[in-house]
Amino acid sequence: MRFIKELKNLKVYKPGKPIEEVKGSLGLETVYKLASNEIPFPPLYIRKSIQAELENINRYPQGSCHYLRKFLAKKFRINESQIVFGNGSDEIIVLTLRALIEKGDEVIVAYPTFLIYEIQAAISGAKVVRVPLKEFHYDLPELAKKVNRKTKIIFIANPDNPTGTYCNHKEISNFLKLIPKSVLVYFDEAYFEFAPGDFPKTEQFLRMRDNVIFTRTFSKAYALAGLRIGYGITTLKIAAALNKVREPFNINRFAQVAGVCALENKGFLKKVIPYIEREKKYLYGGLSGLGVFFVESAANFILIDLKKDTKSLYNYLLKKGVIVRELRGWGLKNFFRVTIGLHKENKKFIGCLRGYLQKSNKCGRSIVEFKHCPSRLNI
Ligand SMILES: Cc1ncc(COP(=O)(O)O)c(C=O)c1O
Repeated sequence: MRFIKELKNLKVYKPGKPIEEVKGSLGLETVYKLASNEIPFPPLYIRKSIQAELENINRYPQGSCHYLRKFLAKKFRINESQIVFGNGSDEIIVLTLRALIEKGDEVIVAYPTFLIYEIQAAISGAKVVRVPLKEFHYDLPELAKKVNRKTKIIFIANPDNPTGTYCNHKEISNFLKLIPKSVLVYFDEAYFEFAPGDFPKTEQFLRMRDNVIFTRTFSKAYALAGLRIGYGITTLKIAAALNKVREPFNINRFAQVAGVCALENKGFLKKVIPYIEREKKYLYGGLSGLGVFFVESAANFILIDLKKDTKSLYNYLLKKGVIVRELRGWGLKNFFRVTIGLHKENKKFIGCLRGYLQKSNKCGRSIVEFKHCPSRLNI
């Protein structure tokens, strides 16, 4: 059997280790997972609706996500047909590539950024053009310079993962003026709810231009990662194309009712966002106290530079029952990412990091040239 040639250099995407696996393999009773940018609170606000929906699971879900679609259309004051739902916002990346990419096309991504753009673009057969970050930020003018007649999509994670940095409204506005209408600008706004006030109002750009899509997710601030649901908002024409290549029942019943609950329930976000902000400050303080270099984040995680290979730290933390995210898969072996958790989890993380640093060399500041990071696809 011959698989597609694009699979040749591709490694399986390794997500953060699950709590259950670490508990089982290390015989630990308590494990804190600070690896996958999840929210540390269970979304109890969906309980009743999920219970009620149990009775309907002998039936396929709505292919159109009817109620959720109506809700979102009203919220954004857009036509219902401008919305596309995905099994996680991840799926919308795949749908977009599936609808747009033909042999010889190019896709522009930053490096490093959310890995799925590059992996999926490579699978779709596109040529991936990388633009290194500049001091941990997207280098928008450089991204624009890479556009040529073959460019189909530019992916922008805003806020970015794994750096947590963001591009503001003015930066994006200036950037869009440089991009021809034939190129789709894909704004992945998975961490939108955590971002500060000058974050782009992307829906305004969409009203002025017909080459924009932005995606949001219920996985992060709304704490529904386990249900897999996200959505994209774009023009009628692009949404119609994405809906053509979508599986008919890609959003399960529980995800659909939970999505409606999430938008109806204002209390959960009001609790989550300030909590994460407070704990972010706590972690900044803890990391500064240890002399560790970190990047200020507009999201619910922090990128940390250990200035040396993080492997032994990662294993040390695992044995203590703390899972962080290694960034080896990004080609960043000296960096790791920590998700902001409950106070007790963050405190334990700082305590363990202190213990580790006392045992080994102290960290210092470093300037990183992402240009020299090896390609993930060849590692
Ligand atoms: C930048 C970015 N986009 C998208 C996603 C995927 O989110 P979802 O759970 O909606 O598929 C993530 C998840 O970590 C992310 O970091």
